[in-house]
Amino acid sequence: MVDGGDLFGRRNKNDQHQTRFLCECTGDFGYDGIGLGEADLNYGLPFLMEMIEKYSLPFTSANVVNRESGELILPEYLVVEKNGIKFGLVSVLGPNHKIITMTDTDSGLDVKDPVATLRDVLPRMRKEVDTIVLLGHLGEGDTDTVIREVKGIDICIMGHTHRTLKNERIVEDSIFLAAPHEGRYVGRADIFIEESDGKVMAVDVNLVSLDDAVEHEPDMLARVEGYKASFEDFKLAKRAAFPRDLGSEKEKYLGGRACKSCHEDTWAAYAESGHNQAFTTIRKKGQTNEPECILCHTTGYRYKNGYAEERPYNHLVNVQCEACHGYGTEHSRDGKWLAQAQDACVTCHDQENSPEFDYAVYWEKIKH
Ligand code: HEC
Ligand code: HEC
Ligand code: HEC
Ligand code: HEC
Repeated sequence: MVDGGDLFGRRNKNDQHQTRFLCECTGDFGYDGIGLGEADLNYGLPFLMEMIEKYSLPFTSANVVNRESGELILPEYLVVEKNGIKFGLVSVLGPNHKIITMTDTDSGLDVKDPVATLRDVLPRMRKEVDTIVLLGHLGEGDTDTVIREVKGIDICIMGHTHRTLKNERIVEDSIFLAAPHEGRYVGRADIFIEESDGKVMAVDVNLVSLDDAVEHEPDMLARVEGYKASFEDFKLAKRAAFPRDLGSEKEKYLGGRACKSCHEDTWAAYAESGHNQAFTTIRKKGQTNEPECILCHTTGYRYKNGYAEERPYNHLVNVQCEACHGYGTEHSRDGKWLAQAQDACVTCHDQENSPEFDYAVYWEKIKH
């Protein structure tokens, strides 16, 4: 049982929490080999190592090295014996799939050229094994190139593409297989191998859809339900760090569109500003579920009746008029609202997130 990599989730804390559970279960499934995808480094190398150790995950990679020491971060290849055949499992990562970790600006890792790597490692593996399986985390086009340039790969499991190959494909002498993402399918290949030289003679490929027709395993179902409850607790704890304890239950945010009808010109200026796309900014980063980002990229997150994921409060995305001026239901014309708005800037434009903030300079850019 093998995997082509990108087992881990996206770069946010909710996904990281779920990834722990996924790793725990994957460990229990008893995989023989898992190729390294760039997503598996989303939470940094120490987290990957912790998961590998804790759940005995058989990750392998032949071309990702520590930049300083030049040493591989994972076993170069794995040898697995099944029915008297020795399989060598080797994985390479495509250098153009950038490793970006959630915490560091630089992963400190280098990705070596896949072709050169395989040309070096395959002859050594050949001495030990009958059949060579590449867990190629390269994407479709590059897998093709690598297989053509490197001779001697018997079977290639394609990672990273998220695309299904319903039938096997033959490139040169190699057989190419893929099953799509998120464990929606399990690919099964019955492989007929010539015992004398380990060459693949025939392959019968089958994709099993893990849909509702597949019965639940009661133990696993109980674990998933248990996990879901703990995940809810996790999210509540994160939110609790940003309590909704400001403002008043009696007041309401009306939303910027409610202001538009009377303040057309102001609206026009606002619509062009970065404030009107602050939520898009964190969406692009996959961080829309993180209180520690929502706080300043929405309207009234810590205020009663402010932004929340549920309707109608989910309309309060972005830094809208009322994020600076206050509850629309408190509309005033005595200058109080202007002073309040001036004071609001630094609650978000703080030292950490806006080190260059200068009221006069910044106001000039968004004045209305
Ligand atoms: C509720 C939080 C919040 C408040 C209050 C706030 N800002 Fe911002 N501001 C942001 C965020 C978030 C961004 C980044 C927007 C993005 O995603 O591009 C930003 C970006 C900006 C920018 C750069 C984008 C552009 O359109 O040029 C300026 C200038 C700016 N703010 C000025 C101000 C001034 C002046 C005030 C006070 C009158 C203020 N902000 C109040 C959160 C806030
Ligand atoms: C304390 C308020 C605050 C928090 C919390 C905050 N931001 Fe921001 N963010 C800002 C402000 C203010 C700016 C605009 C900075 C400037 O232009 O000076 C900004 C700008 C940005 C930008 C650059 C936008 C652009 O295109 O110029 C990104 C990206 C961003 N924030 C993402 C995040 C993420 C992700 C998080 C959560 C991890 C986060 N922010 C948490 C206030 C905040
Ligand atoms: C980033 C914070 C911020 C946002 C967002 C914002 N304003 Fe303002 N607004 C201010 C500040 C600060 C002033 C006062 C500037 C001054 O006169 O010193 C102001 C002034 C005004 C004024 C008075 C203008 C005048 O010349 O008398 C009106 C009206 C107004 N805002 C309406 C709006 C409306 C409507 C929106 C949404 C479409 C909006 N504002 C969004 C910060 C903001
Ligand atoms: C029904 C029309 C109407 C709506 C809706 C409306 N306003 Fe006003 N607003 C006014 C009028 C009229 C004034 C006074 C205009 C003036 O003095 O130039 C005013 C003044 C203001 C001022 C300046 C206050 C001061 O002390 O000088 C701000 C800020 C402001 N509005 C913000 C908003 C915001 C934010 C919203 C949306 C939540 C909003 N308005 C919705 C009609 C409206």
